[in-house]
Amino acid sequence: MEIRTIGVVGAGQMGNGIAHVMALAGYEVALNDISREALDKAMATIRKNLDRQVSREKITQDELEVALARITTTQTLTDLGPSDLIIEAATEREAVKQAIFDELLPHLGPQTILTSNTSSISITRLASRTDRPEKFMGFHFMNPVPVMQLVELIRGIATDKDTFEACRAVVDKLGKTAASAEDFPAFIVNRILMPMINEAVYTLYEGVGNVQSIDQSLKLGANHPMGPLELADFIGLDTCLAIMNVLHDGLADTKYRPCPLLTKYVEAGWLGRKAGRGFYDYR
Ligand code: CAA
Repeated sequence: MEIRTIGVVGAGQMGNGIAHVMALAGYEVALNDISREALDKAMATIRKNLDRQVSREKITQDELEVALARITTTQTLTDLGPSDLIIEAATEREAVKQAIFDELLPHLGPQTILTSNTSSISITRLASRTDRPEKFMGFHFMNPVPVMQLVELIRGIATDKDTFEACRAVVDKLGKTAASAEDFPAFIVNRILMPMINEAVYTLYEGVGNVQSIDQSLKLGANHPMGPLELADFIGLDTCLAIMNVLHDGLADTKYRPCPLLTKYVEAGWLGRKAGRGFYDYR
């Protein structure tokens, strides 16, 4: 089945990036969010990031205009019903995702592929509560979406081959690279990345280094583009903690226990860049 139209649920950091790259690759995109303000902010961000690509001569002004015209925004979730492929990129909370699927399902055609951009929640469990577990899978982008080359494609236990291949074809058309992952807690990228970030927070908590020395060590000593604490702020400390909890609960191994300092920052509302404060101060 060829995918032409794509519905994106959630206009946050990930959702606006997904709408951006899909529209640029030629898909018609319907972007949904409950908040009009979030949709307007998403469109402004998409324009800004497309402008940046024009100024770096990655795309032309015409391509920018055509891509923007391919995106429609809606506060009505059921407007996404006619899409060939839905990518849910709402808040990383299972109950929120569940409520979205429940509302959407009666409005989807039988062929519609349903996917989640979840960074860690079980695809098999999400799929089992829909009417189409064979047409359900994980479609996981990395942040910032327009820049990062990888997309993780996660098969639930019931995902069929045609669904997987249709999603892989979309990743190819984006010019990105697909990594196929089996459905176990946090898949591949976050299974490896989050324990490293969590260990960096332990390194801070135990006083082995300070924020600057920890980040500088990994940047200059291991050639990481961002230090682990800067990256945690960029991803969002709430998201990092949620993923550590999924690893800890799902694999029942103490090596995944979230650092108490990470929990404390989240409790304080110091969630990183988006909150103006995390390991760094952005105010
Ligand atoms: N949209 C479009 N283009 C963007 C962009 C955006 N949002 N952000 C940056 N860019 C472009 C810039 O225009 C620039 O393009 P050129 O190469 O053509 O010049 C390029 O990206 C590099 O940007 P900058 O020069 O502004 O900044 P930088 O060199 O410091 O790079 C970065 C910024 C790409 C974010 C880099 O620091 C980096 O790769 N950091 C690590 C990011 C990472 O690890 N992401 C994964 C997080 S984990 C995840 O997402 C999974 C999860 O589930 C939590």
